[in-house]
Order: sequence, then C-alpha cells, then structure tokens
Amino acid sequence: MHLVGDSTLGFDTRAVHAGQPPDPATGAVVTPISLATTFAQEGVGGHRGYEYSRSGNPTRAALEACLASLESARHGLAYASGLAAEDSVLRLVPSDGRVVLGNDAYGGTFRLIDKVWGPYGLRWTAVDLTDVDALAAGWPEGTAMVWLETPTNPLLSCIDIAAVCDVAHSHGALVVVDNTFATPYLQQPIALGADIVVHSATKYLGGHSDVVGGFLAVDDDGVADRLRFTQNAAGAVPGPFDCYLVLRGVKTLGVRMDRHCANARAVVELLLHHPQVERVLYPQLADHPGHVAAAKQMRDFGGMVSFRMRGGGESAKRVAAGTQLFTLAESLGAVESLIEHPGVMTHASVAGSPLEVPDDLLRLSVGIESATDLVADLEQALDRA
Ligand SMILES: Cc1ncc(COP(=O)(O)O)c(C=O)c1O
Repeated sequence: MHLVGDSTLGFDTRAVHAGQPPDPATGAVVTPISLATTFAQEGVGGHRGYEYSRSGNPTRAALEACLASLESARHGLAYASGLAAEDSVLRLVPSDGRVVLGNDAYGGTFRLIDKVWGPYGLRWTAVDLTDVDALAAGWPEGTAMVWLETPTNPLLSCIDIAAVCDVAHSHGALVVVDNTFATPYLQQPIALGADIVVHSATKYLGGHSDVVGGFLAVDDDGVADRLRFTQNAAGAVPGPFDCYLVLRGVKTLGVRMDRHCANARAVVELLLHHPQVERVLYPQLADHPGHVAAAKQMRDFGGMVSFRMRGGGESAKRVAAGTQLFTLAESLGAVESLIEHPGVMTHASVAGSPLEVPDDLLRLSVGIESATDLVADLEQALDRA
C-alpha cells in the first residue's frame, strides 16, 4: 500500500498514512528516523535514491510526501524553519523585482523581505489585500510575487485567495500563501489557484511546541525544480528527528484542529460579552474583515483569536500577565493555550512600518484543553484588567 498522492483518501487517512508505508525492511509502522548522512552506492553513481542527507533523506522524504498530499500539491519541500522556507521562496524573485505583501503579516516575514532581501534590491509594497479591487486598480509596477497570509497574523483578516490569484496571474506574478494559521485541514490554497504554499511547521503541523520547521507545497514542476535546487544548494534543511516530530504531530492535525476551533468559539463567546473588551477579531464573526472569503474558502474558522482592550495598552498587558492556563509566550498552534501582546512580542519588528499593530491588541492561540477551564482563566484575567 503506497498512499502518496492518493487524493481519493480522506484528509485524516492521508495525515496518518501518506508517505509512510510500513518500513519495507522491518515492517515497523512508524517511519524510521534515518540518521545516516551518507548512503552506500552499489557502483559509482549507483545509489537507491539517496546519496547525501542534505540532498535527500528518507525521513524528510516521508514528511515531504505526507504534507504535499495534505496540501493537495504535487511537490513538497521541508526546511529547517518557516523563515528558511520563506527565504528560499524569495530567491525566485528577480533581483530588482517587487513583492506585494499584505499590510498585516507575521513580523518576521516583513523583516526578511525588508531587512535581509531589501539591501539586495528587492522592493516591496504593503497593501490591504482584503480589497482585491484596489489591488487590481493600483497594481504596483514590477511586481513578481504576491505574498499573502489568510487569516493574517495578528489581525486575522481573511483574503480571497482565488480572487488575488486571478489578478496576480493576469500580471504574470506568482502567488504565495502562508497557510500557517489555517493549516491544510481548514484551507487548501493550491486548489484555489496559489502557486506556492508556505508553512511554519513549528505551529499547527508540529502541534506540540517541540520542533521548529518549515514547509513549501508547490504544484508546478518548474517552480518545484528551482526550489529543490535551492533547498540542496543553500542547505536550509531540517534534521531527521525534526522531520519525525512533525510527521508525528501531523497524524492528529484534523482531530486537533476540530478542538482548536470549538475552543476558540467558546473563548470568542466570552470576549464578545466582556465589558473590558472593545473588539473581538475572529473570522467567523459576520462583521470581520474577510468573513465572506473565510466562509467560502475555509472548512472552519481556526484556533486563533485576537481582541482589543477598551482600557488600552496597559490594560492589555495586565491581561497578558494575569492568565494562568494561557501561558504568556510567543508562537502558536500547539496543544497548550498561549497569550501574547503582538506589539511588544511577535510584531516588534514592524513598529513604525505600514504593518504596525495596535498597542491594545492581544492574540490568543487557543489550545485543546477543556473549554470551561480556558474561559474561566481568561475571565478572571479580564475582570482584573
Ligand atoms: C504566519 C507565520 N509564518 C511564518 C512564521 C515563521 O516560522 P518559523 O518561526 O518556523 O521560522 C511564523 C512564526 O511565527 C508565522 O507566525
């Protein structure tokens, strides 16, 4: 039974099996962690698919096949981190080319584009991608790539992937979708027309706050070849143990996401009715930016919730410091609930840029604990803010 690419199987079946047949040598049902850096050749140049572990590794190959299957993509490439994956993608842009990115995005992505690639000539324009008509009308000259997150980090705005693809492709630009927040369980950008899907596997794919990793899904052979070349030539690959941890996490992705979404809804219900909360940001809410796009392209609305405090920045910081079950920490997407203040923490690098986030904003990564405990914890912190 070889399940790679068998798109007739359900998502959860592929999460458990795709790319991971029982080990032919031993029958082991768990993909072995192949630590070898080099592989014996039967004659000069005669190898069995693996030569050297930077170029290809069996545990990494299993992960790449599994995640590609979940994204319904023909190719998958694993990296040492989400930013390493992003860095490889940005190498596809010509040296004087432009990237259009959403005006709400992970701070590290902006830092990579502006501070790392900017000095090499990369130009960027930040736009509100929830307004696709404005993107079409004001298409920035020289744009080679549109980079979008949906839902965005940290405001959770949702962007119509198919509509952005129509505009970008009419100008010959590639569309990159960071699918970290949604995961392939909730949203499949390749099926909506995207050229490249980016993941911080550190988040929901790994799911247990114990591995840093990145991933790209691609359908086009030519784009995949260029990325595969850079993956080997620049070498930002994950180690076999890290690949194993992501593979292990992904087996429960669908089950975890269902609970993340249900718990997020319980938390949103509390926030909507709490007098200290000025505004709740969650894609399911009818007045949320991009709600219509989210309802169209997502299976459910995700485990991330942001909200703004009526009492401003100091009040937000008191809530962040006042929870007990929600751990005050960066990152997201794992089984345990986290709270953070984006302006000071994850998004400090966008201060003063068009991507700056409000000081009264808090972001929750709602975990899979008992919903009643999470709601009670948040309520006591809000009551004391
Ligand atoms: C949406 C998003 N994309 C990319 C990244 C970068 O991933 P990594 O931290 O694995 O390099 C992050 C990290 O927080 C993120 O939130």
